[in-house]
Amino acid sequence: MSISRRNFLKGSAAAIALLSTGGVFHAFDQGAFSTGKGSAYEPWRVWNQEDINSDANPLFRLIKASILASNAHNTQPWLYRIGNNEIDLYANVSRNIGTIDPLFREMNISLGCAIENLELAAKASDFETKVTLYPGGFEQIRVANIVLTPAVVASPDHYSIIGKRHTNRAAYDLDKQVEPATLQEMSNLANSFPDVKIVWFSDEAHKTEIGNVIINATEAIIGDKTQSGDSHKWYRHDWDELQRNKDGISIDSSGNSGMTRFFGKVLPTSIKSFNDYWIKLTKNPQVSTASVFGMLLVRNQSDRTQLIQAGRLWQRMHLWAVTKGLAAQPLNQPHERRDREVQLGIEPIFGKAIEKLVNTPGYEGMFTFRMGYPTSQALASPRRPAEEVLLT
Ligand SMILES: Cc1cc2nc3c(=O)[nH]c(=O)nc-3n(C[C@H](O)[C@H](O)[C@H](O)COP(=O)(O)O)c2cc1C
Repeated sequence: MSISRRNFLKGSAAAIALLSTGGVFHAFDQGAFSTGKGSAYEPWRVWNQEDINSDANPLFRLIKASILASNAHNTQPWLYRIGNNEIDLYANVSRNIGTIDPLFREMNISLGCAIENLELAAKASDFETKVTLYPGGFEQIRVANIVLTPAVVASPDHYSIIGKRHTNRAAYDLDKQVEPATLQEMSNLANSFPDVKIVWFSDEAHKTEIGNVIINATEAIIGDKTQSGDSHKWYRHDWDELQRNKDGISIDSSGNSGMTRFFGKVLPTSIKSFNDYWIKLTKNPQVSTASVFGMLLVRNQSDRTQLIQAGRLWQRMHLWAVTKGLAAQPLNQPHERRDREVQLGIEPIFGKAIEKLVNTPGYEGMFTFRMGYPTSQALASPRRPAEEVLLT
């Protein structure tokens, strides 16, 4: 990405100020020279490597792939228990995002993403899988049981992409649009999930309509101090905190250029500056450069198993998209706002806006995203290693 003369001068002035205030040491402290390094990023390097000690149990390797799944706010709300020939997946409800996800919608979608990776890894390791999802209330913590039987299974196409998939929050290429045939192929991925559908927003009028709903919802979240505070709790500005917690959102995954990320790490931040920046990025480049928006629909978003199926589909779609050179970013502000309206019992402004966008009788919209061809490579986000999320 090119740097304009004005930005270069601004950057140079800031760099001089930084150097003259002993800020270089601070820059080191804050990981300004260590993007993607440290133990928080190790799971991306070792996920498909055989490690004789920890991989003595072959099922452990499946968990190393599972934890690289997409997940809301990078909360990684999962726990695993390995049995003789099975893995149980549990929701770690202590990692809920509070008023951002009061109905546990995003937590369950995230768990679905984790199951998809786990199943791909199982097949790549020659296991046949039988996945059982547990229905029931959202307080019920055991989510799924996956029985694994040794078998000769064709290695799945998307397996090798697991370690290359990252959410891309940067500008997408406005000169290269996603073709209708590509969208159709992605819609076909939903065929394995009878309760889940995809709707696309690809013409200008529909893109503007959904783009405005996303921007308005972002503003509504920012205007709700409790909700934006709950979101901000998962923002990791401090490098030590990021390396310690190995979770959350940081400036490295923001889609910003190298120089902006450098200064973002070094300069102090506040919730106000974070929110100002969030709305700015949402408008441009995120909404403004989307080639296409999409929404996942389920028949009933109060049914946990349907949310999990939608999560499996999202992970499958994102992996598939990467094989086609596409970039993707969920943009769930309208749904986060809709859930908050339900929680507070207030007028369903975003509930109604989503219904209007969906316009499909018998289905509810519960997950929005954008796709397009990337202008830059997305960076990895931190992960807690498989060892840390294993129940003994
Ligand atoms: C249910 C769900 C909701 C998400 N919502 C958003 C969102 O609104 N905005 C966004 O930028 N990313 C969103 N994401 C992406 C996550 O933030 C991302 O997967 C996580 O930070 C891990 O990063 P990675 O996908 O690069 O591995 C969402 C992901 C999931 C599964």
